[in-house]
Amino acid sequence: MARITDRTVLIVGASSGIGAEVARQLADGANRFVITARRAAALATVAEEIRAAGSACLDIPADALNAQAAADVVAAAVTEYGSVDVALLNAGQGPDMSMDRVSVADVARIMALNYDVVVNYLIPLIKQMRSQPDGGLIAHTNSLAGLMGIPRQGPYSAAKAAARTLIDTARVELAPQGIRFTSVHPGFVATERISGDGLPKPFQISQERAARHVVRALEREPAQAYFPWPTAALVRTLRALPTPFSTLVLRKLASG
Ligand SMILES: NC(=O)c1ccc[n+]([C@@H]2O[C@H](COP(=O)([O-])OP(=O)(O)OC[C@H]3O[C@@H](n4cnc5c(N)ncnc54)[C@H](OP(=O)(O)O)[C@@H]3O)[C@@H](O)[C@H]2O)c1
Repeated sequence: MARITDRTVLIVGASSGIGAEVARQLADGANRFVITARRAAALATVAEEIRAAGSACLDIPADALNAQAAADVVAAAVTEYGSVDVALLNAGQGPDMSMDRVSVADVARIMALNYDVVVNYLIPLIKQMRSQPDGGLIAHTNSLAGLMGIPRQGPYSAAKAAARTLIDTARVELAPQGIRFTSVHPGFVATERISGDGLPKPFQISQERAARHVVRALEREPAQAYFPWPTAALVRTLRALPTPFSTLVLRKLASG
């Protein structure tokens, strides 16, 4: 298992939660970071922590929904450091959303917040990494919710499933060019933004623990990483059950 050191690491969605914590955990590896998110002040605070721990860091406030802004971030990383060796596409959001209350616009918004934000970085990164002698690693923070339709998370589950499928294709097509793809699938993680949303969160883990799983995946580069194991086992079991049984269990879990 290679530790991530002396590498250019781009983290999209690094101003809080899992992305910020992954940056902190990699910061003592003398890496060169490019971190981005919309909230400039929060991003600058994370950048300071990274520099204090011994890595270089360029923080670029940008909205991942804007394809040109995303391409500009990748270009800025290359201008500053010459390459992007590891990219973690971590921006995303899964609010509590029941199908009897959502609008068409809500579904489209959640799709954009979890799928378009990936595509907007994926395409310029593939173009960049194809030109690098050693290719590169593109990782995506997916979710165990992307493996099946989770109650109160339908639009989010659908968007994460779409991202997984796109990345699965990219992995097959781009392996000969040295570009590797890792999808990480956390269960519930106790991050600040979702702390008061009222969703039941069985087997929830801390953001520090979630970030350790992500860092391990960046080091080992599995195609898929699922954690924590109790939630991953639950999802695997539900997927194997006949639909009437899994529907009953999911309804019970969703009602808390
Ligand atoms: N928490 C969980 O239970 C859980 C479980 C499974 C998977 N995940 C996934 O983990 C990832 C990180 O989520 P988190 O829980 O750590 O929540 P978080 O603290 O809200 O982190 C999300 C990050 O993405 C950024 N972001 C969101 N929309 C963006 C946009 N349009 N452009 C640029 N940056 C954007 C946010 O920064 P700004 O707001 O500053 O832009 C923030 O830095 C997400 O993809 C989420 O779906 C979370």
